[in-house]
Amino acid sequence: MSLSRHVDPEDIIHHLQDLRMPSSQATSSSTGGQQQTLQHLTPFSTPYASQRDIPKYQIPREGAPGDTVYEMLKDELDLDGRTNLNLASFVDTYLEENAQKLMVENAGKNLADNDEYPAMLAIANRCVSILAHLWGVRKGESAVGSPTVGSSEAIMLGGLAMKRRWQERRRAAGKDTLKPNIIMGANAQVALEKFARYFEVEARILPVSKKSKFCLDPELVRENVDENTIGVFVILGSTYTGHFEPVETVSKMLDEYQEKTGIDIPIHVDAASGGFVAPFTHAGAGGQKWNFENPRVVSINASGHKYGLVAPGIGWIIWRDKACLPKDLIFELHYLGGTEESYTLNFSRPGAQVIVQYYNLIHLGFNGYREIMENCLANARILSKSLEATGWYTCLSDIHRPAPETTNTAEAAAAAVKGAVSSAVGRTEEAGPGPETSAAYVAGLPVVSFRFSDQFRREYPHIKQETVSLLLRARQWIIPNYALPPNESDTEILRVVIRVSMSFDLLDRLVADIVQVTEQLMEKDEVDLLGVLHEQKHRRKPVTKEERAEKEKKREERKHKGGTMGGVKEAGKDVKKRMEDGIHRTVC
Ligand SMILES: Cc1ncc(COP(=O)(O)O)c(C=O)c1O
Repeated sequence: MSLSRHVDPEDIIHHLQDLRMPSSQATSSSTGGQQQTLQHLTPFSTPYASQRDIPKYQIPREGAPGDTVYEMLKDELDLDGRTNLNLASFVDTYLEENAQKLMVENAGKNLADNDEYPAMLAIANRCVSILAHLWGVRKGESAVGSPTVGSSEAIMLGGLAMKRRWQERRRAAGKDTLKPNIIMGANAQVALEKFARYFEVEARILPVSKKSKFCLDPELVRENVDENTIGVFVILGSTYTGHFEPVETVSKMLDEYQEKTGIDIPIHVDAASGGFVAPFTHAGAGGQKWNFENPRVVSINASGHKYGLVAPGIGWIIWRDKACLPKDLIFELHYLGGTEESYTLNFSRPGAQVIVQYYNLIHLGFNGYREIMENCLANARILSKSLEATGWYTCLSDIHRPAPETTNTAEAAAAAVKGAVSSAVGRTEEAGPGPETSAAYVAGLPVVSFRFSDQFRREYPHIKQETVSLLLRARQWIIPNYALPPNESDTEILRVVIRVSMSFDLLDRLVADIVQVTEQLMEKDEVDLLGVLHEQKHRRKPVTKEERAEKEKKREERKHKGGTMGGVKEAGKDVKKRMEDGIHRTVC
């Protein structure tokens, strides 16, 4: 008999269930189910524990006790990844206790019910004002904005406003409005492309390259804009590598284009993650004017649920001035004697996140956010440097590399002086984390994108990078491995997003785990994944005091022999040997 290549596990279980139970008792989730006992001793003393599955596809006729269903759902959800170890996502997974209380206390409030919840509306407006100021709104301009469900909705609105304004201008000039286009890099997040497709705008998706840091290339922007370009989406920062796209460089290019042609093309900045990073960090946007200080930037979006540090479900869109938001996108809502303006896609939406956003802004303040973002960047630098120190990996992200002379150096020097003064007088500067800040480094998101080094690939051609991701998944870390955008898709990257909840200790564990799984693969060379997975179980035993002392001794001996602490400085040489002790904080 040949083995079947596919089986339906639900069929098997239901079949066995039917065999075991008299037909009068057997229940199928899809046929409704019978009267169930409502009494039970513990949630696990009900038939759900052993005989019946929870109805999945159709509503059961009778309900079941709440604590039973709760326990069953909780158990099923244990199959999900652990949020804190999900390093694939930019979305916040940590909520401090007061924020949790505010979320629960306001869970029932609909942000659309302005008249019923005026305090919540006032809080939303305050957040808009705070963000507009944080993003450099200028005197004399009246910024407008709104909370959205996430950056995606905000991007739709920003794009739509640019399209409508372009249409207005074209109609006023007696020109057609048939072929609008919008410019973005091939690294653009799907929301940007969705805007183009849903709102019938040609997406001019420009190829990215190593030279453009896998981001939007200003030179290509120059070649691709024309009279039908409604605007340019510039991203702060790229989801692939965390690089900030050069808003000011693109903007200067558009200035030149306007001088030559008279055509004024606006920029919308997709600052989904960077909107809460660049304003706070010493590195800023690497010296580039990325926000409303730059007159060509008409609107900016950010996700409150990313580095805004709120639970999923909130984004923000701000236009620099009411004039940038066409009137026909604004709906006047009249109820209970009041009039409200609405310019969002969704009507009902959760309100609690808005309250938590305001809580964070007030509770953390500028310096609190700065400290958190600087910590995230510092941890991302440690991870990047540790990975490169192995010689096995190369980073495509640059936040651990020294800032170029022309950008952050003034800030770096100021920060270094500040740090030196602080240590001299024995106190910590209120506004700075110490002598080393992000100002000394290339600006970007706290993201580490890395791949096998060229030498590693030469020496271990059989090892697939994807296997590193799989093996780390077995240790509960979620670190995706995926290809760069289309014309660079031969390069695969592993990517770690460092969020607020990545403590230094956890980072230490992460580095150790990456080192261990890579070593295992190197020992196997020709990968036998199952074998490796099996072995992994046995290798992950705790290190004893004696073992640690022995390692310490070896390290000291090497130091005295004039070694290079695990061979860090000799990247590429004797890879296996120098990693025998793993990576240590001292080498970072
Ligand atoms: C650059 C960028 N733009 C847009 C989005 C979409 O944001 P949201 O998930 O808040 O809708 C993301 C999400 O990761 C992003 O990184």
